[in-house]
Amino acid sequence: MALSEKNITCVPRHIAIIMDGNGRWAKKRGLPRTAGHAAGAEAFRRIANHCRARGVKYLTVYAFSTENWKRSEDEISGIMRLLGKYLEEALQDMEQNRVRFCFFGDLSRLSPKLRQMCLAAQSRSADYDVQVNFCLNYGGRLEIVQAARQFARDVQEGKRSPEELSEELFSSYLYSADVPDPELIIRPSGELRTSNFLLWQSAYSEYVFMNVLWPDFGPGDLDAAIEEYQRRNRRFGGA
Ligand code: FPP
Repeated sequence: MALSEKNITCVPRHIAIIMDGNGRWAKKRGLPRTAGHAAGAEAFRRIANHCRARGVKYLTVYAFSTENWKRSEDEISGIMRLLGKYLEEALQDMEQNRVRFCFFGDLSRLSPKLRQMCLAAQSRSADYDVQVNFCLNYGGRLEIVQAARQFARDVQEGKRSPEELSEELFSSYLYSADVPDPELIIRPSGELRTSNFLLWQSAYSEYVFMNVLWPDFGPGDLDAAIEEYQRRNRRFGGA
């Protein structure tokens, strides 16, 4: 399905995606789970390109959660390898693609090499204006706890007072400090959960749940999600 001419200008500024269903996609084909993640990484490339073509300014993807460490060592190292390969290519093509990279999550648990690549990609792309946020070792509750901890430290050091804390100020302590909240959050794979993703930032987001597994997710599915978002009447608690 293509986006109609009429709606081409009402695309969300920020789309966030829970890239779910890689494991089931692989299982259906009798392949190892890592093959599902490799196909998921390809789907990410396709969708990142399509988001750019549609004029989306921010794309946030859930690549690895704080809970994903419970998976087998094999699967974890497979996902980390895919991320490393992607970042290596992205660092090479940086001038051409002009995408700004940002990482939401606690990078300290990643390997020093991968962490280094994340930081290099982030600093080398800081001036570009279409932005991809990778949630890596990310958890929404942990993000809020860490922000609260940092605010408390600032109060202790006399830089802040409890009275000045507002929603806006608290937002500035989150990984997403300079990023507008996502208007649209997409979860493919048929699961109907938020799974600790962008808990603070999703307060007024529209959720679109879809039955397609992430590796099968294509540009037509993204357009369908955007059209569903455009059909919703966003009132932000007003009448
Ligand atoms: C969830 O599906 C997916 C993940 C935990 C990993 C997502 C990682 C990638 C798509 C690769 C990252 C690389 C780049 C370049 C973005 P699942 O494994 O939980 O699926 P299941 O619910 O079917 O088991």
